[in-house]
Amino acid sequence: MKKELLYEGKAKRVYLTDQPNQLILAYKNEATAFNGKKKAKILGKGRFNNLISAYLFQYLAEHKVSSHFIKQLNEEEQLVERTEIIPLEVVVRNLATGSIVQRLGLKEKTVFQPALVELYFKDDSLDDPIINDQHALLLTDLTEEELDLIKGTALSINQILQPLFEKAAVRLVDFKLEFGRNQDGDIILADEISPDTCRFWDMATNERLDKDVFRQDTGDLLTVYQEILNRLEAIK
Ligand code: TMP
Ligand code: ASP
Repeated sequence: MKKELLYEGKAKRVYLTDQPNQLILAYKNEATAFNGKKKAKILGKGRFNNLISAYLFQYLAEHKVSSHFIKQLNEEEQLVERTEIIPLEVVVRNLATGSIVQRLGLKEKTVFQPALVELYFKDDSLDDPIINDQHALLLTDLTEEELDLIKGTALSINQILQPLFEKAAVRLVDFKLEFGRNQDGDIILADEISPDTCRFWDMATNERLDKDVFRQDTGDLLTVYQEILNRLEAIK
């Protein structure tokens, strides 16, 4: 049963339930980019984030990566295990694009093999700065072993999701993960995995099938999110 609002973020609302260790995530019909500087109401967006994220968490669970996901409740909501979010954004990159091209002057589409893992400190007031492992240990309550586990899990998730998306003729260019600590003190995958948090490019044409169409005003967000969902459903 849904109880009071615990927290409202840019893309989701988090509600308490009658179970102390369970929360409801309600995906909003809102898109933001550039740390909230760009914003729009997009009716139907929440449903796509919910359905795609539920699909991917279920798929990862089948491949032995546990997450906070318990079950999909309806079109826009999912039940999750309660965690305390670790204030890190863990980014995995297979191809160079986005901020790494700006920061390091790399050529667009440079292949990273092995994939790169980067850490960002999740703090809007600081614009989520990139940090190293030592900074991460300073800024969170993670042990060194837990940080290694997080980075290793991020790479395993890449290994699991890359072939899945390949089957759907989608290149998994990069993505962002968040982890949380559950009531037992264990670190598990949390937040969402969706076209908001991943870059998906059509394998043949490099057409953008993710939030970059909104960030850069190059296409219709609902159309490309629907395309990702259709392709995932088609390979089920
Ligand atoms: P970046 O190239 O802008 O650093 O983004 C890398 C990946 O992380 C990309 O798939 C988008 C995702 N991402 C988020 O999910 N949230 C964010 O706040 C940022 C900056 C990136
Ligand atoms: N998620 C961030 C924001 O809303 C940045 C982005 O995805 O571009 O502001």
